[in-house]
Amino acid sequence: MKIKKIKKTSGLYALKYIKPNIIIGIGSGSTSNYFINYIYMFRNMIKAAVSSSKKSTSKLKKLNIPIFNLNMIKYVDLYIDSADEVNKKMQMIKGGGGALTKEKIISINSKRFLCILDFKKKVNILGNFPLPIEIIPFSKSFIKNKIIEIGGIPKYRKNIITENGNIIIDIYNLRIKNPIKFKKKIYSLPGIVTIGLFLKKKSNINILSFKKKIKIIN
Ligand code: A5P
Repeated sequence: MKIKKIKKTSGLYALKYIKPNIIIGIGSGSTSNYFINYIYMFRNMIKAAVSSSKKSTSKLKKLNIPIFNLNMIKYVDLYIDSADEVNKKMQMIKGGGGALTKEKIISINSKRFLCILDFKKKVNILGNFPLPIEIIPFSKSFIKNKIIEIGGIPKYRKNIITENGNIIIDIYNLRIKNPIKFKKKIYSLPGIVTIGLFLKKKSNINILSFKKKIKIIN
């Protein structure tokens, strides 16, 4: 199966997790887009959606799905999104689409995170996909230098201002053997808003993996 088709099929399969009166969190990126394309069939079951990007919001609005601001509610029932890389412990790199900050806030405020994943994104060690970090523009040079010190190759993502008014640096040349330790080290740098490492507890994550057939890992 081609990746595009796998993403479409996984989006379709994720529909089975929509339950009546659900408040659903919606991610960003091509896999999430496929999922959004399909949820019109279930829109009457969805109480509201909390969206991680303007792009997803506008797609959801076209389907007449009410949009809730996260500040209006205690939690989201289910967050559905994809990832850029996932290891065996279900730790992830996300943010290839630049929406990492809102994605992380919604995922942490969700009872469950359903990650729709195509098999090409499963890795042994995180870091082959460049790790995105959202930073405040003022700290750009300082953070770039610090990243070089720890052996990373920082690349500023050109012409992108995030929905939060910040910029993104993608870190290349990483092999993240201990994501928890690595995250702590980087977070201590002032100016960093969000690191695209998603390390939510395993029990909260379902992963759908697709090669020839659908597989659910939990
Ligand atoms: C968006 O910021 C990301 O976190 C996406 O979830 C991730 O990049 C996966 O995107 P695709 O579904 O386009 O592969």
